[in-house]
Amino acid sequence: MAKAVKKQAKAKRRVRVVAADYIHGVADKNLDKLIAQKKKFKLIMTSPPYNMDKEYEKSNSLENYKLEIESIIKKLVTLLDKKGSICWQVGNYINPKTKEVVPLDIFYHDIFAKEKLILRNRIIWHFEHGLHASQRFSGRYETIMWYSKSDKYTFNLDDVRVPAKYPGKTYYKGEKKGQISGNPKGKNPSDVWKIVRSEWEKDIWEIPNVKANHKEKTIHPCQYPIELVERCVLALTKENDWILDPFAGVGSTMIAALKNKRNSLGIEKYIKFIRVGEERMSQYKIGNLKIREMGKPVFVPTANMAVARKPEHFLY
Ligand SMILES: C[S@@+](CC[C@H](N)C(=O)[O-])C[C@H]1O[C@@H](n2cnc3c(N)ncnc32)[C@H](O)[C@@H]1O
Repeated sequence: MAKAVKKQAKAKRRVRVVAADYIHGVADKNLDKLIAQKKKFKLIMTSPPYNMDKEYEKSNSLENYKLEIESIIKKLVTLLDKKGSICWQVGNYINPKTKEVVPLDIFYHDIFAKEKLILRNRIIWHFEHGLHASQRFSGRYETIMWYSKSDKYTFNLDDVRVPAKYPGKTYYKGEKKGQISGNPKGKNPSDVWKIVRSEWEKDIWEIPNVKANHKEKTIHPCQYPIELVERCVLALTKENDWILDPFAGVGSTMIAALKNKRNSLGIEKYIKFIRVGEERMSQYKIGNLKIREMGKPVFVPTANMAVARKPEHFLY
């Protein structure tokens, strides 16, 4: 057998069927169990519950919340592989009484910095749709805080490159004058994630927020899109690595892992979300789950569509 064919066959054998399992219960206790079992994870990715009065959480003071989450984050850091990363996806907390905006990434950064994690990127996830505010500007982004445990962390940039805006651009002076200046594999996708019609038409990506008309929408009040997780999975782990989501909801992290041949474990407090997550994974395995393809352009209405035309009675 030729060397290359042998290598390919070996790589194929290494890719086993991957695990994607839920633990039913609260994060705190179950993280202790995982620590006792000496488990390690290459990526911990989650969108944590916070005081936004969603149906699954009681409003709590930020102070109490901080104490609870600090203890969980400490445990997560213990479970993190030395080359591993944590991706913490959060938005803003709006105080229900004062309507003051508390940017949760700032709140969390204190905690992660105390644990000596190193911030690699504060990724802006921009989306177009959402509530229209009347007393402030409408919120149209959330963030992903990406931390590594050490300076030796996995980062597969080539696996997440996007097409360059000007692939034919050349050096205009110096020794390399006339040669192509960009990377033939595409460009770094940057820390602002927006997917529009085509990545090479606009510099930023947009991953549509998971709302009622999104392909992946379930009964969960605040899922994140699988596509958002996939970029982190591909960039920060290798095939067969282990990924943990301590607040797994309906399993979006686990589906992104499964789709990219990574093992995953999700902890979730409510059985109704686990049931939906398990059903989504079964549907994925038989090729029936509707998933928005990574990098797929966002729908933009054409000028002659009714929704794109300004009604005559509008004043502006
Ligand atoms: C923001 S949602 C995560 C949604 C998830 N990213 C998805 O796409 O489905 C947070 C989840 O944490 C769960 N949760 C809340 N407190 C928890 C706890 N102490 N332990 C484990 N899960 C908890 C909630 O039920 C909710 O499903």
